[in-house]
Amino acid sequence: MQAKFLALFALTSIASVWASPLEAGTICKGQVKVSEEYIGKDHNVKVEHVTCPDAVSLEPSSFQPPTSLEARQATVNVCGAPCTTNCFLPAGGGPDPNDCHVITDALKFASENTGPTFTVGTGASLVPYNNTVIMSYLSCKTFFLNQDVNFLSYCRNDWASLVDFVAFNCQSTQNAHGGNCVAADQRWFVQVQHT
Ligand SMILES: *[C@@H]1O[C@H](CO)[C@@H](O)[C@H](O)[C@H]1NC(C)=O
Repeated sequence: MQAKFLALFALTSIASVWASPLEAGTICKGQVKVSEEYIGKDHNVKVEHVTCPDAVSLEPSSFQPPTSLEARQATVNVCGAPCTTNCFLPAGGGPDPNDCHVITDALKFASENTGPTFTVGTGASLVPYNNTVIMSYLSCKTFFLNQDVNFLSYCRNDWASLVDFVAFNCQSTQNAHGGNCVAADQRWFVQVQHT
């Protein structure tokens, strides 16, 4: 499939970090909801805009944030940026890839009808805010998390491709239960998991 996703299929410690003691239905410690809406042709895919306050400390990051005020206020477009796929081992308890595909379709629909990109707030300033977008449909949940000091914009069609790629390549037949794709520069990642 998309070579830019650099499938790695490795056991990753990220899974255990994100699976550790979280409140039910949340994807990060201290998650704060900013807003919620439903999208897609049938308005059945839930979108939550949330703040993950500890985004940076939760993830290993080799990215060195720029220090100037200007850089902090910039919005960086990361459409098409390469990321590395990690499948979460072992098999069992993953999302149904067909549910994930409904999210893929909703993202493509939003790309056509709302706009090709979305923007998420900073994940690494002293006050992280609105740095994560979560989408869910039945068994499948995916989120885009910004760990950068800048605002990031990303293409809905790229996210759509990633959801399909991870969901269909990290399922029980691959001894996996979902996975993620971590940007080569660690600024962001997309995860696909059970709701
Ligand atoms: C939160 O981020 C989303 C994009 O992910 C944006 O549409 C929304 O306006 C933001 N909300 C606030 C209150 O900043």
